[in-house]
Amino acid sequence: MNTLTVDLGERSYPIHIGRGLLRQPELVRPHVHGTQVMIVTNTTVAPLYLDACRALFDGFEVADVVLPDGEQYKNLDTLKLIYDALMERRFDRRCTLVALGGGVIGDITGFAAASYQRGVNFIQVPTTLLAQVDSSVGGKTGVNHPLGKNMIGAFHQPQAVIIDTDTLDTLEDRQLSAGLAEVIKYGLIRDAEFFEYLEERLPDLLARDKGQLAYAIERSCWNKAEVVAADEREAGQRALLNLGHTFGHAIEAGMGYGNWLHGEAIAAGMMQAGYMSHLMGDLSEADLQRMKAAFETARLPVYPPAEMTPERFMELMAGDKKVQAGRIRLVLLKAIGQAYVSGDYPAELLQRTLTEWRAA
Ligand code: NAD
Ligand code: GLY
Repeated sequence: MNTLTVDLGERSYPIHIGRGLLRQPELVRPHVHGTQVMIVTNTTVAPLYLDACRALFDGFEVADVVLPDGEQYKNLDTLKLIYDALMERRFDRRCTLVALGGGVIGDITGFAAASYQRGVNFIQVPTTLLAQVDSSVGGKTGVNHPLGKNMIGAFHQPQAVIIDTDTLDTLEDRQLSAGLAEVIKYGLIRDAEFFEYLEERLPDLLARDKGQLAYAIERSCWNKAEVVAADEREAGQRALLNLGHTFGHAIEAGMGYGNWLHGEAIAAGMMQAGYMSHLMGDLSEADLQRMKAAFETARLPVYPPAEMTPERFMELMAGDKKVQAGRIRLVLLKAIGQAYVSGDYPAELLQRTLTEWRAA
């Protein structure tokens, strides 16, 4: 097992990464406050890992709530099911919520923890690659609104992140690829050496080589932990973690939540950002092609869906959280490993990107 720390002063917390951690109660028990534990999971993950997770908290008053599975349920109606379970069981403000599942469960449980009785303790037990490399770390929590992704939420850091890499054994291939989109993102925004590693090792990751997966998860978490420690509330560099997300969130909302996976949508979105960076005269043609090859190797889409016209993109992107004073701010690339945020670009280059970066 390896342990990284998200360094946030008094609110610092460990990320434990390794095999078989769902059988190691000593890792989680120090992070439980009070006596009551509510495990939040979904109908897919519960039959796989709920019993093991419950066993971690033997001796505590443990309850669970099993939510419907899917991005389309990451909303206020489903959030209420968690509040209902907490209220019915009379959980007090010293209770601990445990998010057992992918990013949807992590985000919605985190938001329940941020808001129940004005904030209670929570632990992340991510079980998808995407959640293990990104969403479980950093304290962004929330739910979707029909008009925009993640528009209702809060920053609320977990007490600990427990990554049992064995849980990836049951993950579908399509979901593994979706997680690789966020892994590739770290290489693109700030870690060119990691991108080079990925160019060589993506086939091993797709083949679920345990050693390479553990390394890729650790390096991703290390990158995320550094960014979050430097800019917890996204006043500056944390926005770089949103490479491709303004385009990608528009695809997710525009196609109907759950039809394009988050990782798939941001892969196409990162390519749109890459193409625009190339039009800006920054990212070289060679680097653009390296990006495209990496996403294709990871079996991810590199173009947005045909249904997403430039008009539809503009309509949905105008509601993005990074919009400031009516200007859509985008994460762009100078080169692989060097990202920056800008609202100051020629509008016609965004239009050209939406029109030109499309499947033939
Ligand atoms: P997800 O949570 O929908 O999980 C994908 C699928 O895998 C689901 O059907 C789930 O039930 C299933 N699953 C989970 N673990 C499994 C396992 N071990 N074996 C078999 N099946 C398993 O999707 P995701 O890709 O994990 O997360 C996407 C969400 O994360 C999006 O809502 C996105 O907005 C959010 N996100 C948040 C942050 C953040 O910083 N908070 C960052 C990135 C993404
Ligand atoms: N996934 C973006 C962030 O955590 O800031």
